[in-house]
Amino acid sequence: MEKTTPNREHAFELLKKYNKTDSLIKHGLAVEAVMRHFAKLNNEDVEKWGIVGLLHDVDYEMYPSEHCDKAKEILETAGYPEEYVHAVQSHGWGICNDVEPIHKMENILYTIDELTGLITANALMRPSKSVLDLEVKSVKKKFNQRSFAAGVNRDVVLLGAERIKMDISDILSETIKGMRSAAEEIGLKGEL
Ligand SMILES: [Fe+2]
Ligand SMILES: [Fe+2]
Repeated sequence: MEKTTPNREHAFELLKKYNKTDSLIKHGLAVEAVMRHFAKLNNEDVEKWGIVGLLHDVDYEMYPSEHCDKAKEILETAGYPEEYVHAVQSHGWGICNDVEPIHKMENILYTIDELTGLITANALMRPSKSVLDLEVKSVKKKFNQRSFAAGVNRDVVLLGAERIKMDISDILSETIKGMRSAAEEIGLKGEL
């Protein structure tokens, strides 16, 4: 299929075509928001980083055992450029494939993906059920308490932090800020 410049609207339709589960769509939206935030911080292409975040788990609901491989097929069929396909695949580095994250965008996706899950779980256990008043120190405590949201792979986050040469507290802080920008869409606006 002919390669075109992806746009956000098409990307969101593609995500919804392959994912019907609310939590998976919200996860895509959360990662999108964080990637857009980090793109701004790095003076990079906000739209492109956001789309990669939005679609990174596009194959997860239908093909969990072929996660990342099927995404390549889905995105290539939909005409996405190699840069997007490689970026999406590389978030599974060492977990479901050996596609190493190289570009800054890829390493940031690798670092923040799991973290959005931790922040979501942390926000939802609070009385406000909101990310808007969630503080870094609270998330840092939960990050170090490995029994909390035990499915969240802290080692991936720490390895990512090393690769992007960013302090973990700064990563937590910027990831929270990114998620705040989409608080309503990801269901973490609470009652505030
Ligand atoms: Fe994934
Ligand atoms: Fe993910």
